[in-house]
Amino acid sequence: VVAAASRSTASARALAAGIPGCRALEGAQQVADACDLVFLTVNDAAIAPAAAGLRWSPRVSVVHCSGATPVDALASAAQQGAPTGGFHPLQTFADPEAAIRSLPGCTIAVEADEPLRAALESLATRLQCRVIRLPAGARARYHASGAYASQLLNVMLREAGRIWESFGGTEAEAVAALAPLARGTLAAIESTGVAAAMPGPISRGDLAVVRAHTEALGAVDPAIGALYCELSLRAVPLAVERGSIGPERAAEFETLLREARRRLQRGASAR
Ligand SMILES: NC(=O)c1ccc[n+]([C@@H]2O[C@H](COP(=O)([O-])OP(=O)(O)OC[C@H]3O[C@@H](n4cnc5c(N)ncnc54)[C@H](OP(=O)(O)O)[C@@H]3O)[C@@H](O)[C@H]2O)c1
Repeated sequence: VVAAASRSTASARALAAGIPGCRALEGAQQVADACDLVFLTVNDAAIAPAAAGLRWSPRVSVVHCSGATPVDALASAAQQGAPTGGFHPLQTFADPEAAIRSLPGCTIAVEADEPLRAALESLATRLQCRVIRLPAGARARYHASGAYASQLLNVMLREAGRIWESFGGTEAEAVAALAPLARGTLAAIESTGVAAAMPGPISRGDLAVVRAHTEALGAVDPAIGALYCELSLRAVPLAVERGSIGPERAAEFETLLREARRRLQRGASAR
């Protein structure tokens, strides 16, 4: 039996109607009483209050799906003897249909004691997902690492779009042009690794191109140029690790980028 509860009885009924063999239980307490495994898929801030507002028993396991929220948010259920855990799909879900398509192949972070852990890992495997086990206390760091592959990617493309707009294009045109480039970079990273797949002028040891970038971006917006310098400073050790530049060229890049960053930060704060 699959059960669904929501503050909206109508949405629980609609959800249940779409799943063969599913009946809607009206009210969260009915779900907690009827099921042996309950997913509290409320928004993060509501997890602890939702758990605290229900009666639990050792017969029912309670799991949340938040990446950053500690499993301790389910402490009120644990105090009543319920096994508790975390089951976080490392994916962005916009709507249910897109979510079903994008779930296979993604990673699910599981945090629970046995036997709940084995049950959650088996569920993740049946969803065709990879499993990672999170040790207690690691959730915020794990979730922050995900930000680099999700929301910070949005930030990068907003920055690139603003540069594109400076020569008459739009952000949508920038995304259409840059997304295939990003996919190619990602494919290379997946096949050879972060440092080995490092593209671009720093990897090629081309100081003149990087100097031209900093000057051109400073003319668009010093804040954009300063961020470019900050991130490019992180590219230098990757090029060294790749073996495509030596320590002397690396030091030249660092001097160029630090000086440009200082100049651009002054320009940005003067605005
Ligand atoms: N979306 C993603 O990409 C994604 C990815 C991985 C993990 N997650 C995790 O999945 C969980 C749900 O995320 P979401 O994006 O689905 O959130 P959401 O779109 O904000 O939906 C949250 C749902 O919880 C319901 N709700 C809130 N408080 C409630 C309460 N006290 N009692 C009963 N229902 C309550 C809301 O109902 P109302 O509409 O009536 O307010 C809403 O239907 C979160 O822990 C999130 O971190 C999300």
